[in-house]
Parts: sequence; structure tokens; C-alpha cells
Amino acid sequence: MTDHRPLRDAFGCFATGVTIVTSFDSARAPVGFTANSFTSVSLDPPLLLVCPGKYASSLPAIRATGVFGVNVLCASQKAVAEQFAMRGVDRFAVGDWVESESGLLLLEGACANFACTVVEEVDAGDHLVLIGRIESFRCAADREPLLYLRGAYA
Ligand SMILES: Cc1cc2nc3c(=O)[nH]c(=O)nc-3n(C[C@H](O)[C@H](O)[C@H](O)COP(=O)(O)O)c2cc1C
Repeated sequence: MTDHRPLRDAFGCFATGVTIVTSFDSARAPVGFTANSFTSVSLDPPLLLVCPGKYASSLPAIRATGVFGVNVLCASQKAVAEQFAMRGVDRFAVGDWVESESGLLLLEGACANFACTVVEEVDAGDHLVLIGRIESFRCAADREPLLYLRGAYA
């Protein structure tokens, strides 16, 4: 079996922010996961990307609805990041979630929220590159972002 630790460690040298990606399933139950693979892509048209693992439990819902939200966490929202990387818990039990016009749950008090429509899905090894068109967003630029570096929140 391949030891992925060295490559994980190398990737971990790149400091990122932390996001929660959300969507909802056919019963309109919310789904979501913690993701640091967020990248801004284009201003015109407004595009961003995130890379969900191919077996992420939220992926079928994102594919079925064709919409997802990205919530950029503030420094005070570390507990939300931890909750959404945990299995077997009610992930939405932590944080103050409000429903957007498109039915996505967005996190109050985040540094930024984006509501997106899936425009492209690129197959990329054990992950997908999910490109979303930003339909609406809001931003509180004065809030301190939560950072992630070398496998730890900073
Ligand atoms: C800081 C951090 C960043 C993460 N980034 C990603 C990511 O970009 N893509 C991904 O698929 N999983 C990422 N994960 C892992 C998922 O959050 C975690 O595996 C997921 O919640 C479990 O998937 P499940 O919904 O299938 O149980 C990250 C976890 C942490 C703690």
C-alpha cells in the first residue's frame, strides 16, 4: 500500500483558509463537509472551485441538485470546521445556519458565503474538481479568517 504521508505533508506546507461546502439531498436534508481545496477561479464569469473526494457523502446530493454553497470560516468558527470533518454526528448542530433563496444553508458570521451552480465537474484522481458559477455572495472583509497549515488550524 502506498504511504501518502510524505505527499500529504508536502501539500500541508501550503497555508489555506477553511470552508464548509453545503448542499441538500432529495428530501431537502442538508449535507456538507469541511474543505480547504477552495480556489477562486474567474471574475467574469464569476467562478470558483472546490475538490470533493469521489466518495464524499455529500457528493450525490451536490450532483442531484446542481447547487452548492461555500462558507469561508472565520477564526472563531474552528468548532464548525471540526464538526463538518466528523462522521456519525449531526454536522449542522454546530453553527448558526440560515437558508438562502436557492435552499442552501449558509453560515452566519462567516468571512464570506457563496451560493453556486455546478458548471463543470473534472475527474481528477481520487477527487473531483467541481467548478461553480457564483449566483450570489456576501462578504465581511473585516473578519479574521480561520487558517489551516501543516494539518493544524492556525
Ligand atoms: C481542514 C480540512 C480540510 C478538508 N478539505 C477537504 C477537501 O477539500 N475535500 C474533501 O473531499 N475533503 C476534505 N476534508 C475532509 C472532509 O471534511 C471529511 O473527509 C468529510 O467530512 C468526511 O466525508 P464524508 O462526508 O464522506 O463523511 C477536509 C478536512 C479538514 C479537516
